[in-house]
Amino acid sequence: MKFIASIHRLTTPFMFSIPHLDLPSIQSLDGVVQLPGSKSISNRVLLLCALSPGLSVVHDLLDSDDTQVMLDALRALGCDINEVNNHLEITGLDLDRLKSTSRTEPLPLFLGNAGTAMRPLTAALAALGVHCTLSGVARMHERPIEDLVDALRQLGAQIEYSQNEGFPPLQILPSRMSVKSAVRVRGDVSSQFLTALLLALPLVSQDHDIVIEVVGELISKPYVLITLKLLDQFGVHISRTDWQCFTIPKGSQYRSPGEVYIEADASSASYFIAAGALSQGHLPLKIEGLGRDSIQGDIEFVKAARAMGADIQEGANSLLITPSQQQLTGIDLDCNHIPDAAMTLVIMALFASSPTTLRNIGSWRVKETDRIKAMAQECAKLGAQVTEGDDWIEVHPIPLGHWRRASIHTYDDHRIAMCFALASLNPQHCPVRILDPRCVGKTFPDFFETFFALAKTPSERIPVICIDGPTASGKGTLASLVAQQLGYGYLDSGALYRITAWHASNLGIALTLEHQTQIAQLVSELSLQFEGERIVVNGQEVSEVIRSEAVGMAASQVSALPLVRQALFDLQRNTRRLPGLVADGRDMGSVIFPDAELKIYLTADASTRAKRRHKQLISKGFSAKLEDLLADLEARDLRDTQRTVAPLKPAVGAMLLDNAHLSIEETVEMVLTQWQSKQPF
Ligand code: DC
Repeated sequence: MKFIASIHRLTTPFMFSIPHLDLPSIQSLDGVVQLPGSKSISNRVLLLCALSPGLSVVHDLLDSDDTQVMLDALRALGCDINEVNNHLEITGLDLDRLKSTSRTEPLPLFLGNAGTAMRPLTAALAALGVHCTLSGVARMHERPIEDLVDALRQLGAQIEYSQNEGFPPLQILPSRMSVKSAVRVRGDVSSQFLTALLLALPLVSQDHDIVIEVVGELISKPYVLITLKLLDQFGVHISRTDWQCFTIPKGSQYRSPGEVYIEADASSASYFIAAGALSQGHLPLKIEGLGRDSIQGDIEFVKAARAMGADIQEGANSLLITPSQQQLTGIDLDCNHIPDAAMTLVIMALFASSPTTLRNIGSWRVKETDRIKAMAQECAKLGAQVTEGDDWIEVHPIPLGHWRRASIHTYDDHRIAMCFALASLNPQHCPVRILDPRCVGKTFPDFFETFFALAKTPSERIPVICIDGPTASGKGTLASLVAQQLGYGYLDSGALYRITAWHASNLGIALTLEHQTQIAQLVSELSLQFEGERIVVNGQEVSEVIRSEAVGMAASQVSALPLVRQALFDLQRNTRRLPGLVADGRDMGSVIFPDAELKIYLTADASTRAKRRHKQLISKGFSAKLEDLLADLEARDLRDTQRTVAPLKPAVGAMLLDNAHLSIEETVEMVLTQWQSKQPF
């Protein structure tokens, strides 16, 4: 039987918000990983495709809040965007029509908190003279845009502030731009203002060269380089003098390259580069979609990691990281060019043989949180000695024997959550708790799923909770909810017996001892897929059909066959996956996972269970008699407790929990409290 265990996504919108995620001690990460696309490249490419005539096909676009608002805005402007086989097909806007459309009301565009959408769209729509309003979330209305608006007004754009001078929301009024002399824009507040002009002004360069002069020292130059490289790819070749003066040649026109591949995000890659280097083992970790040819500034992280001793081979579009065979060494580095990825160096520094100093990182203090302070505080919890200055941080390695398990505060900062996941590779095998793990959604919604998919650790370090009880005791619902709350996988072992029984019955095989070899053989031939609530067997969805009373009875018969139990043994054992497992079923705590840290046995009486089952059936529109259900349950309890093979009884050490008078929420809470009492945090 091939089996794909269901590991609950931590970030699906229908999931409870989980307060924390416990990472057991991890030994290594290896294998191949494709990381999500770069946010900076994704939003620039979307706009460039919309401004280029004809069809563009975009591969590997980042799927996040910020790209979603850009897509919505472009669609509202009339751009035809379709998802086809995992890529996007974008037909460029009809710019002449857009310019000449007169509107009685401005077109409202909502851009969330995406600076990479707000700034470039403001410039492009002002250049085209589209009558529209641009707004966002409250925080977006606190982010400055005055320098860009001033620059656009120099060219004749008509832009009004709808609320506060200098900040969105904005209204753009129809007007024609006239470009004659140089445009001046400040470069020391945000490089996105320059990027916005560089992306927009080729639209009005028919008759003149356009010169953009940067006032003040330009910050974040690597991000402007991304803009220039993408412009080049879309047929607009800009010349520059230092970082002061940029010229868009007269007659520039956007031309789609046809196919565009978005690189993986280099800042996100830093966590996996570090994980590969810190792994104890020999197998490499390969990152695909990012390499030597990257246009992102954070690719320079590779050099910094190498300076610490990481073994990284760069391909044109891939990175291969082999676990460092020697302890990393500390470095002293100016990190101004890699402010985001440099946070990862702090965690690597904890594993090194000498201290590390990272300098010129003043911008950390004004990011999602004060990152210098936050990194220092959380590293100290792990046992490190850290000193901070205005714009630097010094990190001392944690000597063996001094690592401490810690509950890491993440300050609603995705990068802190991702960085500290790496601490789970510590040589002392201390587990790590990450508070509010869902904050990774800002740039990498599936970060933890990706991390665990590559992570390896001895199975005894992976926590298991076993939940059992008689039929209709609510153990399945309880186990699934507990798994969701902890971000753990869920093994519904009863479903395996149900599937086996259903399949054997379909083939006309009697579920008797004489046929057990044949039924056990069937188990090895089944292909099984668990996707949340959905169960697919040999390509057919069986989620509903195996839940019937008849299949339940049949499952009870096959589960008494020793060879069938044996055939399912390894399969169940192999579902023990990071970061943990909740297993429900008969022998979970006694045979499959006897070392489970917590075993729960539900003991609600038969009459309460019969009432619950009755209510459930009636609500689903089935007719059912309470007395019959009670008689059935009692008969089943008797048979299950008295059978010789895997009888129904509490596992040794199981906690008995009478849930007859508890709601499901109360029961979940009790199990979680019990679990928490066993945790070292
Ligand atoms: O939990 P359930 O009703 O889906 O289980 C179906 C049958 O399989 C039930 O009779 C108990 C049996 N079973 C078992 O013997 N061992 C397990 N690990 C799980 C279920």
